[in-house]
Amino acid sequence: MSSSSSSSSSMSSSRSSSSSSSSSSRYSHKKQQRRKNKQKEDQDAGHFEYQIGMKIKAGQFVITRFLGDGTFGRVLEVKTCNATCNNYYAMKCIRAVERYIESAKIETKILWYIQDKDKNGAFNIVRLFTSFERYDNYFMVFERLGKSLYDIIKQNNYIGFPIQYVQSFAKQIIISVAFLHQNQLTHTDLKPENILTTNCEYKLVPFKGKQIWVPEREILKIIDFGGATFDHEYHSTVINTRQYRAPEVIMGYPKWNENSDIWCIACVLLELYTGELYFQNKDDLEHIAMIEKAIGPMNYRHFKNSKYKTFFNYDQKYFDQHRSYFKWNSVAPSDSAIERVKKLKTFEELIPAKHALFIDLIRKMLQIDPEERMPLRKLIHHQFFQQVFQD
Ligand SMILES: Nc1ncnc2c1ncn2[C@@H]1O[C@H](COP(=O)(O)OP(=O)(O)O)[C@@H](O)[C@H]1O
Ligand SMILES: [Mg+2]
Repeated sequence: MSSSSSSSSSMSSSRSSSSSSSSSSRYSHKKQQRRKNKQKEDQDAGHFEYQIGMKIKAGQFVITRFLGDGTFGRVLEVKTCNATCNNYYAMKCIRAVERYIESAKIETKILWYIQDKDKNGAFNIVRLFTSFERYDNYFMVFERLGKSLYDIIKQNNYIGFPIQYVQSFAKQIIISVAFLHQNQLTHTDLKPENILTTNCEYKLVPFKGKQIWVPEREILKIIDFGGATFDHEYHSTVINTRQYRAPEVIMGYPKWNENSDIWCIACVLLELYTGELYFQNKDDLEHIAMIEKAIGPMNYRHFKNSKYKTFFNYDQKYFDQHRSYFKWNSVAPSDSAIERVKKLKTFEELIPAKHALFIDLIRKMLQIDPEERMPLRKLIHHQFFQQVFQD
């Protein structure tokens, strides 16, 4: 593996935020909702106006560069105005829109709660340093991290990561989210955009006959606690970015739980491995058809409390009376949807036998019944993490 400062810098210079680079189909429900609301208002209303070099918070920080834009506002890099050291931070500037500010304040509270539980920062969760209001905007100052895993995958032309990296990333993500679960929190929006590398140094390594970028240090951090939900709190009916959504969420179960994060992590790991979204679908029924192809049939037990229960009970068009089986072709909205489902590769088609333990790990996480998914604290001890991979 070669490492060079010139290669590192070329990766850093073309850095772009996932919030500005993601395609709309990858937007989380939270963002879809924001987008709908946004139609009613001026797109730029309430954005924090800034210039590079501008000082903020009584001269404590100076703005050094733009990192990314999002519906909630924008993320800027700032440094402390201190003659002796230059500490860089990422400042999330929330637009002066009441609901965004309210939701950012809740995110702040959750981050303080987590930091109180993880005083030494051992669980790979982004550190928040301070938050403050200035005129009508609200600001959250975080440790400055590097690119997201999605940004790197994109930069590498959607080729995925070598298995050793997937193994290392998987372990960190599982440990980190297990810690959240242990503290009664479900993240609800786990995806490669919300998992960041910790520094801005990257190196090129050979993979599948090409050279791909990987982080110089493999340490990751989880960000974006805007949708994080405590076990005892109200559970929104729709969470997650569509493609990472677990069956119980797709089907509108009244009470999903932290096991929905386990499903998301499995989807993330498949994406890290292949470079592509696994369940690349456009609507719920197509998604269910894909899940059936990958994992096996859903039956009445899976549907009985869901918003699709009537499909099972009353409509022979969708379900075979005897087999309790969802008939995808009869409800598919288009031939292209049928094609997409046909094209979905099974785990065995996608992952060679030498990585069978990876398939086993994924299967333990992608159980249709949330209670049958292996809890993260147990998954940490899965044999996949003991295997030493050459390639
Ligand atoms: N601490 C950070 N360091 C560097 N970039 C960050 C940091 N936090 C957020 N970003 C960038 O800003 C984007 C949006 O931040 P995020 O908290 O995920 O907001 P949203 O709720 O809009 O998804 C991220 O995807 C990332 O590219
Ligand atoms: Mg995000």
